[in-house]
Amino acid sequence: MNSSLEAIRYVPGKLLLLDQLQLPFSEVYLDCSSPELGFDAIRSMKVRGAPAIALAAALSVAAKVHNVRLEFKNGKELGLQTQVWLRYLNSARPTAVNLMEATSKLCLFCEKWITAIEAEAAGSSALFSADFQRVCIELLEQDVQDNKAIGRAGAAHLIRTLHSAKMAILTHCNTGSLATAGYGTALGVIRSLHASQNLAHAYCTETRPYNQGARLTAFELVYERIPATLVTDSMVSYLMSLGKVNAVIVGADRVARNGDTANKIGTYQLAVAAKHHNIPFFVAAPFTSVDLALDSGAGIEIEQRPAQEMTHIQGVPLAAPGIDVWNPGFDVTPGQLITGFFTEKGAVIAGQQGQIGFDLSAPKFEV
Ligand code: MRU
Repeated sequence: MNSSLEAIRYVPGKLLLLDQLQLPFSEVYLDCSSPELGFDAIRSMKVRGAPAIALAAALSVAAKVHNVRLEFKNGKELGLQTQVWLRYLNSARPTAVNLMEATSKLCLFCEKWITAIEAEAAGSSALFSADFQRVCIELLEQDVQDNKAIGRAGAAHLIRTLHSAKMAILTHCNTGSLATAGYGTALGVIRSLHASQNLAHAYCTETRPYNQGARLTAFELVYERIPATLVTDSMVSYLMSLGKVNAVIVGADRVARNGDTANKIGTYQLAVAAKHHNIPFFVAAPFTSVDLALDSGAGIEIEQRPAQEMTHIQGVPLAAPGIDVWNPGFDVTPGQLITGFFTEKGAVIAGQQGQIGFDLSAPKFEV
């Protein structure tokens, strides 16, 4: 069995996304080689996870750019149209900042390209396409490098501070290869600990209502042969009270300057339970998940998901018909409940080096 799962496969002109709605029972790749197909895959959560949706958006546009490049008179026209596609993709899901970060970075690339290059020359649409492919493929490759660095930073911090050769880690939602270009963020730290033989056990929550933990994280853990146990979200406090968890590591969809972190619904209650049991609680995320425009988490838009995702499982009804449903996809964990952030640039730990709480606009990385 191949040792690493791939949520996203790209060659110029063709984007294939692993349909995560069909996992863990079927591994089916969908052709999402246009902005419309990319939008639908993101909105319907065939691809999900903050870094993965940003990459899927970028690459669905890149595929289209490649396929229509010869239909455009010049690079300027194709560059302007590419910006329209990117802005459309930007509205597919609201909470993860990575999507906005990627689409604005690529819109800026288009603007610069149009002003810097002989954009109105005949044939320059092919040149624009080639340059656009290159930057999008770089984003994909960079994500894997960043995740490996996050994994190293997190594992090094835990090995140094937990004074335990082998530790048990609890994680939530899915932050692994399926949520990124590869390796994963929080799950990447677990992977790193496992590789260095410092992992005693991983616990993954079911992650109601959409079960990303039971369907996807459990799948990745089994696939990678990492010793792991699935628990329902409601079992976490009891598990902690039994002394079974040494640290909690989760991912992030958007982090404010003060460390307040939006992540999958249920993250906040894990942080409260961890605080009560004196268990360190970490967020593992690339620095692109930090939204420096936000002072605090109060400004983060929380996506509301369809009622059906709570009332049904895989189309099978579960709740009493007619009941009203509240289904926020994310919650915001206050920075005060977070012990530290594991990023590709290193670990940022609360209260270290004279910091009070977090100021992620001037992070002090652990040395
Ligand atoms: O609704 P989802 O499945 O896209 O939510 C995913 C999460 O909340 C992840 O924890 C987060 O995006 C980090 S993924 C590396």
